[in-house]
Amino acid sequence: MRVALLPGDGIGPEVVAEARRVLDAVTGGALAFDEALIGGAAIDATGTALPDDTTDACRRADAVLLGAVGGPKWDDPLSPVRPEQGLLAIRRALGLFANLRPVAPFPALADASPLKPERLAGVDLLVVRELTGGIYFGVKGTYGQPGRERARDVCSYTTEEIERIVRVGAEMARARRGRLTSVDKANVLETSRLWRRVATRVVAAEFPDVSLEHVLVDACAMHLVTNPARFDVIVTENMFGDILTDEAAVLAGSIGVLPSASLGAPNGVGQTRMGLYEPIHGSAPDLAGRGVANPVGTILSAALLLRHSLGLEREARLVERAVAEALADGARTADLGGSLSTREMTDAVMGRLEVRTAAAVAV
Ligand code: NAD
Ligand code: IPM
Ligand code: MN
Repeated sequence: MRVALLPGDGIGPEVVAEARRVLDAVTGGALAFDEALIGGAAIDATGTALPDDTTDACRRADAVLLGAVGGPKWDDPLSPVRPEQGLLAIRRALGLFANLRPVAPFPALADASPLKPERLAGVDLLVVRELTGGIYFGVKGTYGQPGRERARDVCSYTTEEIERIVRVGAEMARARRGRLTSVDKANVLETSRLWRRVATRVVAAEFPDVSLEHVLVDACAMHLVTNPARFDVIVTENMFGDILTDEAAVLAGSIGVLPSASLGAPNGVGQTRMGLYEPIHGSAPDLAGRGVANPVGTILSAALLLRHSLGLEREARLVERAVAEALADGARTADLGGSLSTREMTDAVMGRLEVRTAAAVAV
């Protein structure tokens, strides 16, 4: 089994190196790793944010683990090449239209969230974010004379794009608590009205056992912090999902602990599929190079990789349990109010993993 590693920029390489150690440990060294350039690191080395070699390495792999891209060095708004283009391009090239962002706060981290503990009780939600359409990928450009320009980003969705992401959301809801919330801005946007019609039809026709509600995105942003336990699965378009999941990170105590899985077309129940796994956070330029970033979001992304792309459910659970136990034992990086380094935090997780793995072997 082969995993492509795309460390990227800023804290990306720091957290990916730690997640790699965890993958090595839990699989007993059974994975082959291929490291490739993306983002600013790729621009510096090759002039483009996604070199062909990187796409090839991803296509050869069973799964991709990515850190983060971007940073102040490449932020000039007039630059024709940007690190973020690399990330968007690899998602698109691999057909990864479904981005799963689970938010199930660890009870041990309740004190790290600014929300009242009673608001966090029972929170276990999954955001299914559409990842290869919408305003991110529509026609865009800046037109006109310098000083009097007009810029545009067109948001468009096809029926088929909406159908397939709603199906993913409904399938996930069916396997969980049976409740799907479709989030849109149908009171204003044409794309949202199509989204709402398609979601209603698909769920009624194919998922009679799933209950569907429609919530406007502005109200959803409020419900996420006032009553987050009301949500099971949220399905939404690309940019709404991006914004709502950074907000949802507040429930978990830090954006540093949230993982994600980006998947393509399902190829049957119980089967593995190619996927790209990354924490939801960015390159954290304020922390880069200091060895203090929280590696948990990337380690939990590696667990999702084991589950969805390698079919290693037992190993995925071992990693998730080791993280939960390390946090319950009080292991904390600075974002969670602690003082552990990136490596020490990973060591705490690996310590719990060894205990578990040894116990499993003994049984
Ligand atoms: P960010 O997520 O990098 O940082 C936001 C805040 O969260 C910062 O205070 C940062 O220190 C903190 N943070 C993030 N990850 C953390 C971790 N693992 N441990 C502890 N604290 C953490 O978002 P930003 O500052 O808006 O963006 C910085 C750059 O990252 C930009 O260039 C942006 O485009 C890029 N970005 C990339 C991705 C990605 O590659 N998937 C995602 C988001 C942002
Ligand atoms: C994310 C990031 C990316 C996105 C950027 C860096 C392109 O914010 O993965 O959440 O908006 O999808
Ligand atoms: Mn984001």
